[in-house]
This record gives sequence, structure tokens and C-alpha cells, in this order.
Amino acid sequence: MLAISDKDFGTPARLATGPLVELEIDGRPISVPAGTSLLRAAALAGVTVPKLCATDSLEPFGSCRLCLVEIEGRKGYPASCTTTVEPGMKVHTQSGKLSGLRRNVMELYISDHPLECLTCPANGNCEIQDVAAMVGVEDTRYGFAGKNHLALPKDESNPYFTFDPSKCIVCSRCVRACDDTQGTFALTIDGRGFASVISPGQNGPFMESECVSCGACVQACPTNALTEKSLIELGQPERDVVTTCGYCGVGCSFKAEMKGSQVVRMVPNKDGMPNLGHSCVKGRFAWGYATHPDRILKPMIRATIEQPWREVSWEEAIDYAAQGFRRIQQQYGRGAVGGITSSRCTNEETYLVQKLVRAVFHNNNVDTCARVCHSPTGYGLKTAFGTSAGTQDFASVAKADVIMVIGANPTDAHPVFGSIMKRRLRAGARLIVADPRRIDLVKSPHIKADYHLQLKPGTNVALINAMAHVVVTEGLVNEEFVRNRCEAADFALWRRFAAEQRNSPEATEAITGVPAAQVRAAARLYATGGNATIYYGLGVTEHSQGSTMVLGMANLAMATGNVGREGVGVNPLRGQNNVQGSCDVGSFPHELTGYRHISDPVLRVSFEEEWGVHLDPEPGLRIPNMFDAALDGSFKGIYIQGEDIAQSDPDSHHVCAALKAMEMVVVQDLFLNETAKYAHVFLPGSTFLEKDGTFTNSERRISRVRKAVPPLAGYEDWQITIMLAKALGYPMEYSHPSEIMDEIARLTPTFKGVSYEKLERLGSVQWPCNDNAPAGTPVMHVGQFVRGKGKFTITEFLPTDERTGPRYPLLLTTGRILSQYNVGTQTRRTANVVWHNEDRLEIHPHDAEERGIDDGAWVRVSSRVGSISLRALVTDRVAPGVVYTTFHYPETGTNVVTTENSDWATNCPEYKVTAVQVMPVPARRRQTPGHQGTGAEMAAAK
Ligand code: SF4
Ligand code: SF4
Ligand code: SF4
Ligand code: FES
Repeated sequence: MLAISDKDFGTPARLATGPLVELEIDGRPISVPAGTSLLRAAALAGVTVPKLCATDSLEPFGSCRLCLVEIEGRKGYPASCTTTVEPGMKVHTQSGKLSGLRRNVMELYISDHPLECLTCPANGNCEIQDVAAMVGVEDTRYGFAGKNHLALPKDESNPYFTFDPSKCIVCSRCVRACDDTQGTFALTIDGRGFASVISPGQNGPFMESECVSCGACVQACPTNALTEKSLIELGQPERDVVTTCGYCGVGCSFKAEMKGSQVVRMVPNKDGMPNLGHSCVKGRFAWGYATHPDRILKPMIRATIEQPWREVSWEEAIDYAAQGFRRIQQQYGRGAVGGITSSRCTNEETYLVQKLVRAVFHNNNVDTCARVCHSPTGYGLKTAFGTSAGTQDFASVAKADVIMVIGANPTDAHPVFGSIMKRRLRAGARLIVADPRRIDLVKSPHIKADYHLQLKPGTNVALINAMAHVVVTEGLVNEEFVRNRCEAADFALWRRFAAEQRNSPEATEAITGVPAAQVRAAARLYATGGNATIYYGLGVTEHSQGSTMVLGMANLAMATGNVGREGVGVNPLRGQNNVQGSCDVGSFPHELTGYRHISDPVLRVSFEEEWGVHLDPEPGLRIPNMFDAALDGSFKGIYIQGEDIAQSDPDSHHVCAALKAMEMVVVQDLFLNETAKYAHVFLPGSTFLEKDGTFTNSERRISRVRKAVPPLAGYEDWQITIMLAKALGYPMEYSHPSEIMDEIARLTPTFKGVSYEKLERLGSVQWPCNDNAPAGTPVMHVGQFVRGKGKFTITEFLPTDERTGPRYPLLLTTGRILSQYNVGTQTRRTANVVWHNEDRLEIHPHDAEERGIDDGAWVRVSSRVGSISLRALVTDRVAPGVVYTTFHYPETGTNVVTTENSDWATNCPEYKVTAVQVMPVPARRRQTPGHQGTGAEMAAAK
């Protein structure tokens, strides 16, 4: 069944807020919500009305005049897409007169449309072709000799799609998709009447417009005017497989449209949550890495990292790894080995890695890359509310009146949610942005933040305390909520603390750099503007006080009563596709599945009975502790699934030295990444297209990942872990990932109701999913907090040890860009490099001028732990004193300069604050452990 056969109801559904409207269409009775179009009502009644400019993902426009109908008792032939139902209406969609009118319109369209259906890539999947057949038009009386658009040149500028204006019928579906669905407003209709043409930006090519290549216009186009280049190249797909995007924590649902074992295109799933048919450039187009020639498809081993790799059989590689781990444990002790799970792999794969560590290595030395991103979220939200996860589903933002975005950049890092949020903002919600950098949301088409609190990096806690101060001292506490829902004694202490003068906006202004009046106004808006919701990202967590800030936001939300219903809440935007899931299924060294502490004897017994082993009650090593132990000589072997710690973890010198000190580093990945340079065994992993499993997105939504092609290297990642466990003497008997999920559900109360059968039936579910909530839980803490009463915590601001001074006078903060993903392993191997082919250092014009740095010039960024070179981007997006860069390219080695500082509670690294100096250099000079460079370069870098 192809995506293209999905039924299109013509116009969007309307919510039933009152009695249904009853009417008759071609003699068929139908009842629909008020506000429904006649076109949709007809489709629901099983009556097909021809249409071209309407589609059910967009509000109707009424331009093509094909959907005309007759209504008894009314004159004329209204367009059914723009006419809404009324009680008792009798509508006729077929008559001689209507047929004539429709044929006439269609002939005019055809006269300006190339008649080359047989060679057109859309043949068989083209709405104009279908409608022409439906209204009985094969040829045109008007001929092709008159004025037409047939000779207009194609725009091939976008790497992923073509615009062929000769096939455009100016239905404006693309324009409306770009405006309403994506919110970029990159397209307009230029000219009038017959001269109308679709115009990207200032009538230039797509690549020179504001287009962000989300594909919404391509999706909406009813002809072949906007078409994926992959479809043109490969032809129409033969089948599709519904799966989940392998990139960010939004977790969009897609249909992988296939021809044989080739992906023809990825089409966002119209019925899939949470994206409902929308996508971004990464999920929609950047899947070419899956078949990139750099993929390693054969297992490899080597005795030392100085030796070249040797391709071997799977058996030999697995045996070699197993022997290495066994020898190390015999020689150095049980705790000398461990594992790192991946937030890019499935829940089932992640679960097996932590199971291997606990049940086969017999220790708890397992950690996940979430350590370096959202571990403070787990700690903070569990402490305050009782659950280590966001409170809302994404759809909840549609009910928000005030949206506060802190340390997140949704339009770049979570683009589909960014579009959903922008829709709400265009509809009138107010916006507060707290970020050292002027992210796009601060000002974009039809959106302007009410307040941009441009704080200095590292001062989040001072800012949230100042907002709390305003709330408690200006009588803005929701006393009833706090009385009924929160622990009274903790609240009283917190209230006193927040009210202290040293937490006032005036007192903290010198710390945060945000004018007190702005903080006061923003706090008042948050507390009194109706439903107020917080969305936050790594700009909150990746600090030495990351956990304190999460607690601070939870305090503010509880004090103002903004938890426990739609439109409110505290919501982490997770970076990678399965950060939430990898944490849920027990990747942390102190927790088993469902965030339950390993020291709990009753809990351990349930796992011991299921796994048939004795479990170590002591929490294991966190990632940074593993590195320290490796350098101490007590940690010697590691199994790393799908994580490039040499590039993504802070203070790369330290990480690489630790890896170098180990005797058995096993890397399971798609590519020979930076970490693999230190590996003794390389096990080729599989992409999301090559495996079955589940991902859990930022809103706790568990969605199926389905195998579209067989794994190129022969095994799915979960099967590789099983082979390793077996070679270590512990057989794991699973024939399909569904059985792994069944085990997770058996052992985890919040997952008790999750099964593949349910996921097939419902599409996806949000945990908790159990007897109390068999269909899952979109909004948490309704009525009462998971922990019972909400807990306030004192959030004293303690400045980070990372200070600026004469030697390192600027603060470096890091982030991501739309077209690239994390350390770029995947996106750098796609055409996305046309948008971003290097990391740049954003620097304020004043700071640049002071240092004689021109836009585009090479600069050297030095911190107390290392230095890197990259080119400058002079911009006032960052404030004076602050510089910013991304970390997508290993050539840049951004994390060479980030330090060992970390969050006090969770060890999440302080990526977001590094004191640096920036100076011009004539060309790139690097000092990355993975890229030692020439002796001259190294000398120059010192
Ligand atoms: S490009 Fe496609 S969607 Fe846009 S106006 Fe032309 S036919 Fe309609
Ligand atoms: S690809 Fe997306 S951003 Fe670009 S023009 Fe189309 S809808 Fe707009
Ligand atoms: S928003 Fe995230 S999940 Fe959705 S398509 Fe883009 S990268 Fe994939
Ligand atoms: S579909 Fe109604 S006017 Fe085009």
C-alpha cells in the first residue's frame, strides 16, 4: 500500500465542539462537525469531487474551480472546498452543467501543461492526471499554440528537489504549505492572472531564498512541478514501510517508499504522530548516508591501534572481543570493563547493551550519551515531579498562551516541533526567549518574541531565581495550586529563599546581563498570561548547574500552577532520536529500567529472576569516571554502541588519552568515526532503515522503527549484542525485538501496557502505559504529581568555575544548525553539506574589530585545555563577550576546547560555557588528538 493512495479529504478536519451538522450529499446522509467543508463532507460520505487546489493538510483557497457543486435552493455553483456545511443542506456533486464547467476548467489547465504523461516521473501518481481522467478530458480545444508557460526553465538549485514551472498550475498549495505548515514564508505568487508564477524569495532560485528545504511544498504539489530528484531518478515506488525518523528527538513518522531494496523517497506520514505529515530537511531528504560508500560492512580487528585494520568474519571479531573482555576481567577485576549505549539505537538495542553489562560483565558500568546532554533533566524532573521526562505531548503547545523557550533552538534542532510552535505563536501566543544568542524564533516572519532575555552563558539559575523572586514578591503565586498539589514545608522554604533581595532582578542584573525591567516583565507575563509552558534544551542542562536550573524551572511552573493540564508544563527538547528511550530502558549506571535505583533489593530480585544472574547492587561508573579510571589503569575495556565519544564528549584530549589507555575498545557503528581510531574491534552497525525496534521521542512517545531493507552488514545491532553475550557465555534468546520489548514491559511498571501489537494498533503510545493508562499518557501529573506532592527545591546560584579573565576574556557556547546533526557522522555524508560545510565561529562585530578579525577570516580559539581553528562569522546574533559555534565537523574539533567541568548532580559536561581567547591566524591550525597534524602544525598550535 503506497503513501500516495492515502485518502485526501480535501480540507482539514474540524473539531466537534457542539452538535454535528446533518446534511445530504448526492442523496447520502452524512453528519459532520460544524465548520466542515462540503468537499470534506462529500469525501467522508464516500463521494469524490474533483479538486486540485485543495488538500486536507491546508486551509482551502478556492482557486481552481473544479470542486464546484450545486446546492438545492441556492443559485450558482459554489466551490465545495470553501463552502461549509449547514443543517439540512442537499448537495449535488454531479450534473451535466457541473461536468461541462469542470471540463472547461480542465481543458484550460491542460492547454498550459506539457502532454508528456508517459515520460513524466509522476505518471500514475499525479493529481492533475487523475482529475483530467475523472472529468473526462483527454485533449484540449484550446490547443498549445496560445500563450503558455511551457518553455519556462527548471530550477534545479535545491539538491533534493526540482521545480519545473512548466508543470505548475499555480494552485498555491506550495505557498500555503510553506506559510501555514512550515512557517517559513519563502514562496509567493509573483505576477497576476495568466502571468502568475511561483516565486521563491525575491524571484530567484530556491537556494537563494529563505527556503529551509523541509519538503512541505513538494509534498503539497498536485503535479510534477515540485518533485524529489530521487523520484525522478528512480521512478515510482512499489511499496512503503512506515517507520520513525532516525535523527532528532521530535521522532517524526515517515513512510519509506521503496523500489526493491532502494529507498525512492521518505514521505512524512500524514497520519503519523507527532508530525502529522510534516518533516524537516534531515528526515525528509538526508538519508543518503545509509548507502554511503564510507559505510563499513565487514567486521575488523587489530591487536593495537597502531596496526592497520584486518577484515575478519563476524565469528572471529565477536570471539576476539569476548576473549579480550574476559582476559581483562580475569587480569584486572570484574569492574575493569563497561559499555556505552547509544541514543541513536532502538530501545531494544539499548536495553540489551545495559543487560549485557549488568548480567554478563556482572557490574553496572553502563552509561549513555544522554549523560552528556539531558541527564540533569532526569535528575531535576524526577526530584520535583517524580518522573524523569517532559510533562506534555507536543500537541499541547496549541493550548499555550505564553511559551517560554530557554536554551533551545527549536527551528534548527527540533524543526518540526519548531513549526508546530510557530503556528501557535502566529495564532497569538506570547513568547519569551532566554538565550545568549538571538535564535531565529526571536524574530522571524510573523513572529516576534515579547522578550528576549539575552543572558550571559552560565547564569541561567540567577535568571530563573530572579523570575521566581518577581512571582513571590508581587503576589503572583497560584496559592491554591501550591496548597493542594505541593509539599508545604519545602514551598515555604523556597518562597523565603526566592524573596531574598539578592535574588531580585535588580540584584541579579549584574550577573545575568539582562535588564531587571525585562526580567520583571517576562516573569509577570509567564505568571499571569494564561497557560504558560516551558520548552528547554541543552542550553539549560549542559552547565555546572544544569540540574539546579531544571529544578528552578520546575519550581517556577509549580508556583504559578503551570503543570498538570494541556498548554502548560516543563518540557525538555531531546537532541537525538532516542535520548528519552535510552534513559528509560536502564542505561544509567545507577538505574534499572523506568529510573529505579539499582540498590533496591526487591527490584533487583525481579531482574535477577528474569535474567537468571546475581546483580551488583552498587552503581557503576559514569562515562567521565570511566575515562578517569582508564587513565588510572583500573578500567581497560569498553563496548561502545553507536556513539562517537572522541568527538562528542568534552575535553577531547582527555577522552582520547583514556581510550588510548584501554586494552579492548569495541566500537559498533556505521562509519570509522573518531572513536574508532582507538578501537581494537569494529563491528559494523545498521541504520534505522535496516532494523526493527522502537524509538521514544521527547514527549515519551514510543514509535515503531520498521525494517525497510536487510542490514547491509548482515546483522541488526541487537543481534550483534546477542552474539557478543553468547560468546561471553550468556545466551540471550530473542528471535525478534518485540520479545525484548515484552521483557521490558514485564519488568517496568510504566511500560507494562506496551507491546508491538498495541503499537501496530494505535500507531504509537506515550508512557506511562499500563493498566491505569492503557492508551498511554499524553499529559502527566494531572490531578497529582507522580511523586504525590510536587517538591520545591532551593536553587542557590553558584557561578561556574569557568571564568573569563585577561587570558581568556570571551565565553564560548555551542549549539547545532538545522542541516547538520550532532557530530555530523550522517549529515556530513549527504547533500546537506551545501548548507553548512564547516563550523564557523560567531563573534560580535565589536569583539571582531578589537581583534582585527574580518568576516570569513581564520581564527584560533584557545581555552585552558586546547585550541582549535575555524573561520569567523561576524554577527550581532551573539552579544559582545560571547562567541558561538557548532560541533558538526571533526576538522574543527570543537570539543578540544571544552573543559572537564560538569553538572554537580549528574556529571553532564559544561559544554555551554568555556572561557576562551580568539585571535586571527593565517590559516587552519589544529590541535586535535584525533588529527595530530604535522609537527609544524602542532608546534604552531602550542
Ligand atoms: S508548484 Fe505545485 S503546488 Fe505550487 S502552485 Fe505550482 S502546481 Fe501548485
Ligand atoms: S521546502 Fe519548505 S521551506 Fe522550502 S519553499 Fe518548500 S515549504 Fe518552504
Ligand atoms: S524534526 Fe527531527 S524527527 Fe522530524 S524529520 Fe526532522 S530530524 Fe527527523
Ligand atoms: S479544490 Fe476547490 S476551488 Fe480548487
